[in-house]
Amino acid sequence: MIDTHAHLTDNRFAHDLEDVLLRAKESGVRAIINVGYDLPSSRRSVALAAKREQLFAAVGIHPHEAARVGEQALVQLRQLALDGNVVALGEMGLDYYYNHSPRNLQQELFRQQIRLAKSLSLPIIVHDRDAHEDVLTILGEEGAETVGGVLHCFSGNRNFAARCLNLGFHISLAGPVTFNNSRDLAAVAGTIPKDKLLLETDAPYLAPVPYRGKRNEPAYLLEVAKKVAALCGITPEELSDCTTENAKKLFKLEIKGNSRA
Ligand code: NI
Repeated sequence: MIDTHAHLTDNRFAHDLEDVLLRAKESGVRAIINVGYDLPSSRRSVALAAKREQLFAAVGIHPHEAARVGEQALVQLRQLALDGNVVALGEMGLDYYYNHSPRNLQQELFRQQIRLAKSLSLPIIVHDRDAHEDVLTILGEEGAETVGGVLHCFSGNRNFAARCLNLGFHISLAGPVTFNNSRDLAAVAGTIPKDKLLLETDAPYLAPVPYRGKRNEPAYLLEVAKKVAALCGITPEELSDCTTENAKKLFKLEIKGNSRA
């Protein structure tokens, strides 16, 4: 399996990253895309990927940061994105739940990063919280489908999923699909074409059942996979195979070592 979205540069991994990576490997997670959310975390993500075969990096600026980014941020992001271990731009997008930054600034930053991704031919990792319509509008207007990407930690309904898929985007499911109150999400899972589905943990956030409330880590991807497989009516092995293929293809991952997991 491939964990397509984790934040291992988070402080909560500072004391035991070695163990976390080992447990990931042991539970069948062959590769992890470590995702930046501002310039410092993106920089750390690139540095970490250089040291670990298991890790790839994504660099981007989260909508929460939109009000705080300096003029040079996009220039610096471009520099970081040129690193060979960077496989995507993100996370980027819109967050109308927390509204930590004004919406117009979030939208502008989202558009700028899509344009950057297009100029670098990198897929994008999209964060969307309570902003479905504007996310779709911006993806469409900016022609984001030319690079494609993923709606990470998908939280929409079937209709929104269908519209994202129409734009050629992938859909990634995370811990919330295992929660008892996730009926909408459970209904969506089975309808996603098997060649468009990805798995992620979003660690350290959103640990799946039975770890809900604890620090999340890539090893727990197994719980997400088991639940999604059940919802899709296929075996966890079949699900691992197709989601791994999808991740490799979308992010053009060259995974070292041939241990099957
Ligand atoms: Ni995230």
